[in-house]
Amino acid sequence: MNEAVQEYYGKVLQHSDDLQTDACCTDTAIPSYLKKAMAAVHDEVSARYYGCGLVMPQQLQGMRILDLGSGSGRDCYVLAQLVGEQGSVVGVDMTDEQLAVANRHIEWHREQFGYAKSNVEFRKGYIEKLDELGLENESFDIIVSNCVINLSPDKAAVLREAYRLLKPGGELYFSDVYADRRVEKELVDDPVLYGECLSGALYWNDFHNLAKQAGFLDPRLVEDRPLGIDNEEIALRIGHINFFSATYRLFKLDGLESHCEDYGQAAVYKGGIAHSEQKFLLDKHHLIQKGKMFPVCGNTYRMLKESRFADYFDFYGSTDTHYGIFSGCGTLIPFGSYAVSDEEEDCGCC
Ligand SMILES: C[S@@+](CC[C@H](N)C(=O)[O-])C[C@H]1O[C@@H](n2cnc3c(N)ncnc32)[C@H](O)[C@@H]1O
Repeated sequence: MNEAVQEYYGKVLQHSDDLQTDACCTDTAIPSYLKKAMAAVHDEVSARYYGCGLVMPQQLQGMRILDLGSGSGRDCYVLAQLVGEQGSVVGVDMTDEQLAVANRHIEWHREQFGYAKSNVEFRKGYIEKLDELGLENESFDIIVSNCVINLSPDKAAVLREAYRLLKPGGELYFSDVYADRRVEKELVDDPVLYGECLSGALYWNDFHNLAKQAGFLDPRLVEDRPLGIDNEEIALRIGHINFFSATYRLFKLDGLESHCEDYGQAAVYKGGIAHSEQKFLLDKHHLIQKGKMFPVCGNTYRMLKESRFADYFDFYGSTDTHYGIFSGCGTLIPFGSYAVSDEEEDCGCC
């Protein structure tokens, strides 16, 4: 399947508009600082952008980031600005034509950003075989990926490798396409449906289970939207399945619990995270206002306290006393609903 995907992204598609879905049309309101960073990317790189979401989490200064399936490098060059000259970005892709575009403009971007030395590099490789690239265990603060994992023939290996390469407290923050059911094999075998990031999409519940098996025990949905199929012929074949573009954040934290448990803990956001001064969005359940006591489950407490966000919060409570399930905070599923882990009750975070 990798050869068919290389052919699709190397030879068939030449421009974002060639895609047959509206995957690239991220309808999230893009904050102005990101628009500015995107505008500073070379036209040829932007023209071959095929992502389906925004993979720019908060607080990136000085971070070391890995982009899985970096394509022509659009997200890498945006992230290169957000991490600053002290941070660095490594992009991995398997398609020569995409890598050629990305590599062609390294020097142009270095000058554009005013850096003494480029902080971006691209490597040729397979995202399910990252061990072949000599990247050190636990050497990345953040791993991003934009509309790629659905294309991988071995998604479990990709998640396992991402877990291995992340530092403890780091996160895999990525956008991808998901389906509301398992896709039939004959559709998976179709190179166009697969290349268009449709038929390789995981059923969202299979994704949750794979993420947990890889060690990412509490996947958090950040945003999602239904995907539109613009081509009538494709819609006729696969339109019975609902597809979503969704952005998840998966923290690498050993021993997270399988459910949100209530220990009576809370956090207060002190402000100070760049571009999130008044409120901090952890995920779709957790929009945390500055200065307001915010009750959290044990897992959320650890995501804030054992990650790069720790310095921006005051923390209250411990896990000494357990008060039962943190009700109503079941795992969110695309699109717009959530699977409740127990009886629904009012909860601090929802
Ligand atoms: C839909 S495009 C997205 C590219 C880029 N993330 C962007 O937002 O423009 C998918 C990219 O993933 C790459 N890709 C797909 N499967 C891959 C794999 N198994 N290993 C490495 N790269 C892969 C393709 O070569 C292509 O460049």
